Amino acid sequence: MTGAPRQAAPAGLHLCRLEAVGDGDCLEVRSDAEPAPSIVVMRSAGRAWAYVNVCPHFSLPLNSEPGRFLIAGDRLVMCAYHCAVFRFDDGLCIEGPAEGLRLDAVAVKIEDGDVVVA
Ligand code: FES
Repeated sequence: MTGAPRQAAPAGLHLCRLEAVGDGDCLEVRSDAEPAPSIVVMRSAGRAWAYVNVCPHFSLPLNSEPGRFLIAGDRLVMCAYHCAVFRFDDGLCIEGPAEGLRLDAVAVKIEDGDVVVA
């Protein structure tokens, strides 16, 4: 089947306040559409990125405890299950069993301090 990629979240959806995400940290955002996977918002300084919270290795969440992520360095997050390391900037896995694979990106923008789906 061909067509546009599946949109993980509708445009305009408010994910969180930017200030709710610690600088250099991640925040898990759950949608109302359970059991849809959560979205992980990553922040560095004034920038934010968001991804579907599903590791491309075994399709598990990046975190093993609700809302707690393993920060592996500057703008790097490690999957809690088998230690794949992903970049905030583009979701690319640069180390570990998912090396070369990417998290599913959710395009976001910052509007008046809110992180919203673009
Ligand atoms: S499920 Fe993430 S590294 Fe295996």
